[in-house]
Amino acid sequence: MSTPVLETENLVKVYGRGAARFDALKGLTFEIHDGESVAIVGKSGSGKSTLMHLLALLDEPTAGVVALEGSPVSQLDPKKVSRLRNETFGFVFQQFFLNANQSVLDNVTLPLKIGGWGRSQRNERGMEVLEQLEIADKAKNRATDLSGGQKQRVCIARALVNRPSVIFADEPTGNLDSATSEVVEDILFGLHRDQGITLVVVTHDEELAGRCERRLHMQDGLIVAEEHGVITPGQLDTTFDPAQLGLEDEEDRA
Ligand SMILES: Nc1ncnc2c1ncn2[C@@H]1O[C@H](COP(=O)(O)OP(=O)(O)OP(=O)(O)O)[C@@H](O)[C@H]1O
Ligand SMILES: [Mg+2]
Repeated sequence: MSTPVLETENLVKVYGRGAARFDALKGLTFEIHDGESVAIVGKSGSGKSTLMHLLALLDEPTAGVVALEGSPVSQLDPKKVSRLRNETFGFVFQQFFLNANQSVLDNVTLPLKIGGWGRSQRNERGMEVLEQLEIADKAKNRATDLSGGQKQRVCIARALVNRPSVIFADEPTGNLDSATSEVVEDILFGLHRDQGITLVVVTHDEELAGRCERRLHMQDGLIVAEEHGVITPGQLDTTFDPAQLGLEDEEDRA
């Protein structure tokens, strides 16, 4: 098999110390292969975003290894890590807000600015992705003057602008109505299908998780189950029963 695009070995993340110590990740070992779609699911507080930040090289583990294309990241020069992050990854994270005072186009082309592209090339590429996401007519608007679904499409445009090979999305449909969620999902899975982009998605939405080829179920900082295969909505009730996976709380079962 080819070298995984991302792999972890015994990944541990501890926040705080002493009485405030919290073990958010307790030793995770898994691989993500090029062109895969993977959902990370589990209850609030189970460690999904923490794991996503480590995989996306936005934070460092307390112990264990994250390797990108076979190279342990901790052994790379930090400048190379930022360059790799900027060139290889796209982020659709709710905490990466759009800059309210900048235009949609300037928000979208920020990763290219960081990458040192000149303005006219940036704008040309920025308009290309805005057209792809059907919001080119909003390019000159301020980012605040958009609907929730439009903002999310701008975030996706920004994630795509540098032609990443991996997109990380943390609750990409979290604040959207069901029709807009479907549009956003179709965009993400369309990119996965047509351009072979690897998708790593954190979600509470079972339907979105079911569209991924693999699901990692997290509980209390551990991966407690792994499922393979796309689940069509009709199958959801039986296949996605949390009781079968032993993920229910005692209270929930009562
Ligand atoms: N900076 C931090 N300092 C201390 N504890 C933290 C920090 N960030 C996260 N935690 C704790 O680590 C645990 C995992 O948090 P994380 O954000 O990864 O959860 P999550 O699975 O993404 O939850 P949600 O579904 O609510 O987004 C939580 O108990 C949280 O309180
Ligand atoms: Mg989270």
